[in-house]
Amino acid sequence: QDPRIQLIASSIRVVPDFPKKGIMFQDITTLLLDPKAFKDTVDLFVERYTGNGISVVAGVEARGFIFGPPIALAIGAKFIPLRKPRKLPGEVISENYVLEYGTDCLQMHVGAVQPGERALVVDDLVATGGTLCAAISLLERAGAEVVECACVIELPELKGREKLNGKPLYILMESH
Ligand code: PRP
Ligand code: MG
Repeated sequence: QDPRIQLIASSIRVVPDFPKKGIMFQDITTLLLDPKAFKDTVDLFVERYTGNGISVVAGVEARGFIFGPPIALAIGAKFIPLRKPRKLPGEVISENYVLEYGTDCLQMHVGAVQPGERALVVDDLVATGGTLCAAISLLERAGAEVVECACVIELPELKGREKLNGKPLYILMESH
């Protein structure tokens, strides 16, 4: 395993019982306070995706907006924000997804991606996989090819990976 991953893992604060009892919250804000850990995180993704013909990096609001743009800039791709409802001013397509309680929705601007473009989806963490699944659907409905999803952390117990219909998921670490 890459030695940088240990530093990254140790920079993530785990907050028990946030936002509610029983949840071990993976707080990446402490990773962002450590410039080496932040740079190493971005570098690991950039090393993986440089030269892969990816022209689109799509980041999921909110924490995918932290890791997605530096990756996009470094690999020479455009960045598309996938936003929560009623934030984007132009024409949008929408995908609803299921949360533990209730549903949420992601939206993407029509015309942000062209058919056939190779896309990478970036977020901080995959839990149930509902969020990534919605992101993949938006891009595929617009005709893009989702090459892979990339997250810093996976919570493997929640089996989010199985929800991605075989779409590759690359993570830096598992958290239990
Ligand atoms: C968190 C996290 C992922 C998502 C993963 O975001 O940043 O986006 O949950 O969960 P899932 O795999 O079960 O869908 P959240 O919706 O809490 O909002 P935020 O990023 O805006 O803080
Ligand atoms: Mg999120």
